[in-house]
Amino acid sequence: MNKKVTLKTLQSMKGNQNIVMITAYDALFASLFDEYVDVILIGDSLNMSFAGKPDTLSATLDQMIYHTQAVQRGAKKSFLLVDMPFGSYADKKQALKNAIKVYQETSADAIKIEGGKEKADIVRYLTDNAIAVFGHVGLKPQSARSEGGYSVKGKSEEEEQSIIADALALEKAGAVAIIVEGVKSEVATKLTKTLSIPTIGIGAGNDVDGQVLVWSDLLGLFEKFVPKFVKKYADGSSLIRNAVQQYADEVKNGIFPDENFRY
Ligand code: KIV
Repeated sequence: MNKKVTLKTLQSMKGNQNIVMITAYDALFASLFDEYVDVILIGDSLNMSFAGKPDTLSATLDQMIYHTQAVQRGAKKSFLLVDMPFGSYADKKQALKNAIKVYQETSADAIKIEGGKEKADIVRYLTDNAIAVFGHVGLKPQSARSEGGYSVKGKSEEEEQSIIADALALEKAGAVAIIVEGVKSEVATKLTKTLSIPTIGIGAGNDVDGQVLVWSDLLGLFEKFVPKFVKKYADGSSLIRNAVQQYADEVKNGIFPDENFRY
């Protein structure tokens, strides 16, 4: 069995080896992914790809904890990163209370919060209280409703400076790594060179310290919307439809179970 991936492992990978991150929400898929990835993110994207909701906003802390507990039963060595859901870290005290709950009820190695300089005090308070924090800058799905939708960030000089200032403020506050989502590749490249902590990109080009994709996107299962940055490594939905159709046909026609599948 491979060695457990720790924070030290991830920090030593910056500039040496790309970090591989994938989301998972249950034990079965976590056990399939564990061998090949460094980090499993229990992302609040589960609200969309698992629960069928239109955005991430209604995910709750208890749901995040439930799914993390499932993932930790399947993942033996990956670093486990848990998203703090919308509304669970609005101020320092609330953030610490909820992060402690996550630490006490799961084996999460770190938590992730969305936001930049405006969250720096919260990140400092969490790290001062022994919580490892990943930041999340650029496109922040929890802000999509208030911003009127999802849009690529870093297109103007002003936006570029703001993203870089956000990430620097988080690093200074003690964040251990930063997710960079939906930003122009050149901005993510600059950010990665500027920071001494690892950057993990999603829709942020290739010059970052690692990549993350939502599992149901990369396996070609999520059909509602496929962003430009998603590469489908399998045609999962066709695979599943074909298999279930064949099963249904065989049951309807009395073919399954034949003598090979009987006691
Ligand atoms: O919730 C999630 O899956 C995420 C990734 C998109 C980075 O935050």
